[in-house]
Order: sequence, then structure tokens, then C-alpha cells
Amino acid sequence: MEAIRVVGGRPLAGTVKVEGAKNSALKLMAATLMAPGVSRLTNVPNISDVHVMGKVLKRLGATIDVEDEHTLVIDTAPVASWVTPYELVAQMRASTAVLGPLIARFGEARVAMPGGCNIGARKIDMHLAGLTALGVEFSVDHGDIKAHVPDRLRGTVVPLEFASVGATENLLMAAVLAEGDTTIENAAREPEICDLAEMLAEMGAEIEGAGSPTIVVHGVSELHPVEHEVVGDRIEAGTFLAAGALAGGPVTVEGFEPVHLEMVLRKYEAMGMGVERGERRVTIRRDGQIRSLDIQTLPFPGFPTDMQAQTMVLLSVAGGTCVVTENIFESRFMLAAELARMGADITIEGHHAIVHGVPALSGAPVTAPDLRGGAALVLAGLVADGYTTVSDIHHIERGYENFVPKLQSLGAEVSLLSA
Ligand code: EPZ
Repeated sequence: MEAIRVVGGRPLAGTVKVEGAKNSALKLMAATLMAPGVSRLTNVPNISDVHVMGKVLKRLGATIDVEDEHTLVIDTAPVASWVTPYELVAQMRASTAVLGPLIARFGEARVAMPGGCNIGARKIDMHLAGLTALGVEFSVDHGDIKAHVPDRLRGTVVPLEFASVGATENLLMAAVLAEGDTTIENAAREPEICDLAEMLAEMGAEIEGAGSPTIVVHGVSELHPVEHEVVGDRIEAGTFLAAGALAGGPVTVEGFEPVHLEMVLRKYEAMGMGVERGERRVTIRRDGQIRSLDIQTLPFPGFPTDMQAQTMVLLSVAGGTCVVTENIFESRFMLAAELARMGADITIEGHHAIVHGVPALSGAPVTAPDLRGGAALVLAGLVADGYTTVSDIHHIERGYENFVPKLQSLGAEVSLLSA
């Protein structure tokens, strides 16, 4: 297994460009199932989760040509299966994003029930309840979800209990090819939802209100393949901005929309960072000691849960005490135990983490608990005394392309160890 070794104390400065958003690309790939033919996705991140989604599409019968490492040419005309097996869903729960597209195209789907993961139960009850309202009949058979549309998908009003990103996406994709109008109430508003809605509209869908809490879809009878560029990854960008905030900066991150990270930028300014917003770029610099500040994660445009771990590292060396509240996932604080090994002083009380800032962290061997926690531990190593080795970095490789080379380009003393 590989590990990342980082030597603390090197100032970071320079410019790094982020890739396309993992949390959009995976759904755009799934959406190509709805338009038989050859679609072309550009600015696709070259990460392991994308490779797994490629396996899912190929298992269904699609062909995928990797034109260059960031361009996928996907032909879904040959797709004749609607079965996504456990071994693929178990590798990546986002495989469930094929549910809506398969139901829309075939009126059938058989997708393994996703298990939980390190950050929570990750249920899909809201996906199933919403699709049922559109006319889908579900049954569970030996761990698989079986979907069948006895008649045809019919539009209706679907209020979501919670602004679930995945449920909004599956409902949106199924509604596009349903008869009549669908209104999704309490819809997720993340930029990745807007990117998916934009591509579906380019394919011929009629969608209003993407990015607002109420999305209205006028069903159409068919979609056509398209070419689409994946939106920039705001979370990868936020991760490098957190690195610049920790290790000094100025660090400029390019290739994303600053407005997609506005709440994070405002919190980092309140924590004492210098933040300069530009055209598809942000420059950040640390101005003196980091100020402690309470954070609570919420659906977009609230503070993103995917930036919670990286921000906890900043707060662990801030001057003061604050409370980090995780409202989206039930167990997304595993980072705290690893940070404690580096000298952080964090107490977990249910959904709250009480973070007492310490003067400095000390390097130590630590284990990546999940994707964002793993990246956060590397960031902690940037400012810890001595060196830190982060193992189980396959978590990091799921969502970050060239994480080590990008940090090296900013001046970090970081390297890949094949343990
Ligand atoms: C997406 O997950 C992202 N993943 C997550 O990013 C992100 O943290 C999350 O949205 C929130 O922004 C992808 O897009 C591939 P949810 P998703 O449905 O769709 C519960 C990362 O680090 N819930 O908004 O699964 C669920 O258990 C990953 O890149 C139900 O209970 O998020 C969770 O606690 C991590 N029933 C909460 O809602 C449901 O039917 C949020 O889930 C659906 C969700």
C-alpha cells in the first residue's frame, strides 16, 4: 500500500489548477445512459472513482474511449443491460446514480443496495420514495434493489424530506423522460446539480429552477447525445486553498468558480485569511494567527460538509476554541482521532466537535479515514513539526488527481512512499 510522507514547515506559494468536479463527472457519466449514442465529456478528472463509474457503464454494455486523460467518449447505444452488481456498488456508492437513468431508459433497473461507508449509513430511502412517486415499483432481492415501471413514469410533485444531492439527481434524471411535469421540492442546490441540469438540457431536457429549492421538469420523449465540459471541482479547490491558508501562501487556485465556494471563502476571511476572488481563480494568504470560528455544515449554499475536515485542521492550530457541527453525515469526525495523534485537542460530542487550538501540531504516522479526512491529514502534515506519513491513501486517490505533484508545485516537501 502506498503512503504520503510530508515534511512540515515549508511555506507554500504559487498557482495550482484544479480538475473537473468528481461529484459532477460521476453523474454526467451516468446521464449518458439516457441518450443512446456517442457523448463526449471533457475536463473529466482522472481519479479512481471515475474509473469505477467507467466499469459500471461498460458492465451495462457501453463503450468508453479515453481520448486524452481528461476526455471520455462514451457510446451508450450498445447498452442492453440494467444490472449493476454488488462488487461495483460496494467499491463506489455513487454507482447508484445509474438508477434514475436506467429506469428512464428501460423502465427497469437492478442495482445492488449500497452499504454504508466510513462517514455514515448513506441510505437511499429518499431516492426510492421519490422514484416510487413517479411510478416505479421497487423490491429488494438478495441485496439488490429491483426497480420496475409497470406502466410508464408520470410526473408529479415530489417533496424531499432533506435536500439530498443524490436523491435530487436520481429524481431529476428519471423525471426528464417521464410523462408530464415533475416538481422536486426542497431540492439540493449544489453547483454539481446545476452542471447535471445543464447537460440534460443540452441533451433536450426541459428543466427550470436548477440551483433553487424547487426544480420543475417538463418530461420529453427522448434525449440526444452531447458534448459537455465538467464544472470545476470546488472541493479540490477548497482543499488547496486550505493548504495555502495553513502554510502561508499566497496560493492561487485556478479552474473553478469562486461563487461555488463563497461560504468557505467568507469563513476563511473571518478566520483572518486574505482572500482575493478573480475570474475562475482565488488567491489566499495567511495574515497572522488563524482565528477560531464556529462552523456548521449545511446543504449548499451553506458550508459544505466536504470542506469540514480540511477546515478542522485550520481550526486545530487557531488561537482559541470553537465548535464544528456536522449536520449532513452522522460520523464524519474520524479525522479528529488521527489529528489527536498529531497533538490536536478536539473533543467529539455527537454531531459537535469542540476544537481547542494548539500552538503547533507534531508530525506522526497517521491513517486516512476517508477521502476528505485523508487529504486533511496531508494538510496537517504541512504545518506539523517534523514529518508525517499518511497511509491508506487509496481514499485520497478516489477524489484527487496528482495530489502530491500539485502540492510539490506549491513548494511542499511531500512524496509518495510505496510502503
Ligand atoms: C454527495 O453524496 C457527495 N457525493 C458527497 O461527497 C457529499 O458530501 C454529499 O453529496 C453532500 O454534499 C457525490 O456526489 C458522489 P446526500 P450523497 O444524498 O448524494 C442522508 C465527497 O467527499 N440520506 O446529500 O450521498 C445521507 O445518509 C463525498 O466527495 C438519507 O438518509 O449525499 C447523508 O447523511 C462524500 N437518505 C445525508 O442524507 C437518502 O435517500 C446527505 O446525503 C439520501 C441521503
